[in-house]
Amino acid sequence: MRSTDRTTQTTITEESPVEASGLTKIYRIGRTLVTALSDVSLRIRKGEFLTIMGASGSGKSTLLHLLAGLTEPTSGKVLINGVNIADMSDSVKTQFRRRHIGVVFQAFNLIPTLTAEENIRLPSLIENGGKSVRPGVLDELMQTLEIRDRRHHRPDSLSGGEQQRVAIGRALVMEPALVLADEPTGNLDSENSTRLCKTLRELCDTRRRTIVVVTHESAVADWGDRCITLKDGRITGPRSTGKQERTRNGEETESLFAEKETP
Ligand SMILES: Nc1ncnc2c1ncn2[C@@H]1O[C@H](COP(=O)(O)OP(=O)(O)OP(=O)(O)O)[C@@H](O)[C@H]1O
Ligand SMILES: [Mg+2]
Repeated sequence: MRSTDRTTQTTITEESPVEASGLTKIYRIGRTLVTALSDVSLRIRKGEFLTIMGASGSGKSTLLHLLAGLTEPTSGKVLINGVNIADMSDSVKTQFRRRHIGVVFQAFNLIPTLTAEENIRLPSLIENGGKSVRPGVLDELMQTLEIRDRRHHRPDSLSGGEQQRVAIGRALVMEPALVLADEPTGNLDSENSTRLCKTLRELCDTRRRTIVVVTHESAVADWGDRCITLKDGRITGPRSTGKQERTRNGEETESLFAEKETP
């Protein structure tokens, strides 16, 4: 098979769907160089729920955008099922992302002229005859995210938390194999935050979806199988999660929300 064929036919199926090696991102502003990410290597297993923590400016969003193929690395590469996403043409990459990767942006990036429901449906509307939303998924999502009664509102008449939930709905509506979420609970109250974490956990446990969540909240990070921390653009190490202290299917215990020591 020619490499271009492999590139266009990629779906996310392998056991290690995402691998980053030596990822470095340097921004240039005038004469100043900003190293946002420095030599980050990472392998994410299929069905894994990885969380990423770190101080503001440590490179979390940069890493997420690189994993999604939204930004090009200065050096290093991101392999999805062994295919370097930099080798995909822009149109293939865009279509691939729409079908297989759900991205929740830190700044939501909703379309202001569309209603909440239209924003959620957007990936399927753009598909134009391609993969469409499975019946029932839209309703279920709006129910889970508690935005059904705001479905006809445009973003400017939604609260910050509601906008965030719409952005999450848009990322999940195509039932992507890989979900990359940048501080998806940043504007949510604790009830909605817990509900979202449970939903993401379930997607991993029952459907083997791969989830990466950037968060500042240790209670959110504790829902993951593994947590890595970033400092000044480098991985500084794993951080323990509350995973060991709860059963996957049982109700969460208080220890899940307790602060954990960073090793
Ligand atoms: N487009 C850009 N041009 C120049 N510098 C940038 C750009 N985007 C990010 N940076 C810089 O790269 C560094 C990492 O930014 P990044 O957004 O990845 O941090 P973060 O960990 O997501 O922070 P936060 O928790 O505040 O969202 C920061 O110092 C930031 O100022
Ligand atoms: Mg960020």
